[in-house]
Amino acid sequence: MKAAFNRKYGQPKKVIEYGEFPKPSPNKSQILIRVHSSSVNRTDCGFILAKPWIVRFFSGLLRPKWPILGCEFAGEVVELGEGVSRFSVGDRVFGFDDEGFGGHGEYMVIDETKMITKIPDNVSYETAGVATEGSHYSLVDIKQAGIKKGDRVFVNGGTGAIGSAAIQILVAMGVEVWATAGTKNLKLVESLGATKVIDYMKEDFTELDEKFDVVFDSVGKSGYHKSKKILKDGGIFMSSELGPRFSNIYLTLWTKLFGRVGKHRVIFPIPKSSIEDIEYIAKLLKSGEFKPLIDRKYKLPQTTEAYEYVLKGEKIGNVVIDHNI
Ligand SMILES: NC(=O)c1ccc[n+]([C@@H]2O[C@H](COP(=O)([O-])OP(=O)(O)OC[C@H]3O[C@@H](n4cnc5c(N)ncnc54)[C@H](OP(=O)(O)O)[C@@H]3O)[C@@H](O)[C@H]2O)c1
Repeated sequence: MKAAFNRKYGQPKKVIEYGEFPKPSPNKSQILIRVHSSSVNRTDCGFILAKPWIVRFFSGLLRPKWPILGCEFAGEVVELGEGVSRFSVGDRVFGFDDEGFGGHGEYMVIDETKMITKIPDNVSYETAGVATEGSHYSLVDIKQAGIKKGDRVFVNGGTGAIGSAAIQILVAMGVEVWATAGTKNLKLVESLGATKVIDYMKEDFTELDEKFDVVFDSVGKSGYHKSKKILKDGGIFMSSELGPRFSNIYLTLWTKLFGRVGKHRVIFPIPKSSIEDIEYIAKLLKSGEFKPLIDRKYKLPQTTEAYEYVLKGEKIGNVVIDHNI
């Protein structure tokens, strides 16, 4: 089969090859998927560069354990392991797998117990193929923070895959969301349901005369010490990044040990994939409450270019890899 793969870590241009790769075959509990659409996202970027270094403990110390990256995907089930009961041949499915990957191949296998489910009839492969990475991290954080209807949440970075998914999930829950975006994307982020969008290029959101239950730094550009000014007493700060001098890690440990940091809590949830979460995402896709933002589209042979673009940190939402070449 054709695939984009990397047998060593490094810059995409130096390490990605596109060509023939052995087609996988499903074991007892796996399904074989013909992939129609996948994405290049920041998780894939972390794994191709092996950065931060700690990634190597998961991805392989010296070389990649999973040469075909692509943690999110959408496609059609074409073969089943003999023990599979959740799926049938012909099912349209989508999912997320950061412990196996494989989305950048023509075919991939995945265990039926992983984060995968059927695509709602009214949703395309292209949309489903970019619907899980950002929403997965958002949901993990939203659940761990215990955010509920009526809360006020500030999302820093409303245009990222994580931020744009977080806004839509929170709005669907009945949460009031404020967010940041660059000048040209203010209207776009407003259209996701944000009550107010702050232009981060002109205004510092941490100086707002407002208080929130949670500040979610979904783009990892701020930190607790700055953001605490807009947190209510008892409020929570969380981020998708380690923070200045790993502050999000030690402040999380401090919170665990002493219950709080000053008047607040800092959390850094460890992402855990679940079928329950992807079924919730499928429900939001079906109802139209979650529409993943799509920026650029590349064909599978252009996967290297897609990585180079995503690594610039400028993508708006998600970058599609179209497998119909
Ligand atoms: N913890 C984890 O397991 C995990 C997993 C995946 C990703 N991440 C991290 O999460 C972060 C977000 O990833 P992502 O894929 O959602 O998005 P991304 O690709 O990193 O975000 C790009 C967007 O960020 C916006 N942006 C840049 N600087 C900003 C600032 N100072 N304030 C507000 N927005 C700004 C840009 O918007 P404009 O064009 O409007 O400027 C651009 O659209 C990354 O740092 C990534 O490494 C963590």
